[in-house]
Amino acid sequence: MTPPSAPRPRANSEADWDRWPVDAYLDQNYRDIHPGDAAVIRHHSRVYREIAPGGLRASAECGAGPNLYPLMLSAAASRRVDAVEPGASNRAYLRRQLTEGADASWLPFYGLCRGLNPALPPTLDEALRRVRVVPGSLESLAPQTYDLASMHFVAESVTEDPAEFAALCRAFVRSVRPGGRLVAAFMENMPSYRLDAERVWPATRVDTAVIRAVFAPLTDRLRIDRVPKDRSLPEYGDTGMVLLSAVRPPAR
Ligand SMILES: C[S@@+](CC[C@H](N)C(=O)[O-])C[C@H]1O[C@@H](n2cnc3c(N)ncnc32)[C@H](O)[C@@H]1O
Repeated sequence: MTPPSAPRPRANSEADWDRWPVDAYLDQNYRDIHPGDAAVIRHHSRVYREIAPGGLRASAECGAGPNLYPLMLSAAASRRVDAVEPGASNRAYLRRQLTEGADASWLPFYGLCRGLNPALPPTLDEALRRVRVVPGSLESLAPQTYDLASMHFVAESVTEDPAEFAALCRAFVRSVRPGGRLVAAFMENMPSYRLDAERVWPATRVDTAVIRAVFAPLTDRLRIDRVPKDRSLPEYGDTGMVLLSAVRPPAR
């Protein structure tokens, strides 16, 4: 008898990103600062402090979702920050934050970001004035558009297919000009996102070795760090986070 074949991995296009459950995701992850996110902010602030205030014409946060802290981090270095997001529910939340003022729960995040990078504007609202919401996906980004691209919990959290994960990472690298900077955070060994009873969102298990194998051939000054598992988050089945900073090499 032929053994049953393994189920085909779910592709990025098979999930309904317009219906990402924004409130459940914010409730589980971003109403308070969890230690894992504080570690991401400390790590990325080291990179952003190396860049002169306003020194970058434009940066992109790829797959922004409803998370404002990556946009805050970019605001000192970048004169324009594109929050690139394919999902309608996430874009609607971001637009409300930009036009009606950010939820009070984001203020402690801004306090942490500004404490680590005093070049940030005095208020969160001022920082967010540099941000515009851009409908789109990693694959839709024109090559060599940005001076810096950031990505938080996206390439590994939107597909079950390791080959598609690698392709999304390549699109991320391609989106910056030669010499452009990259900062990213990945959930480590995340089996899937379960945010409500309705749906299971696709994910691919990655670790430092996988991230190195994908990014080393594409980047210079690659630095990969680990953050231990954050026990204050819901039990997603992950083993921590992987953090990355790198530079796209000149003309490769
Ligand atoms: C796990 S959430 C992460 C959200 C946010 N970056 C954060 O830090 O919390 C994954 C995000 O990726 C977006 N996404 C899905 N497919 C994408 C693609 N092909 N390119 C870019 N973003 C994508 C989803 O809509 C969602 O906002």
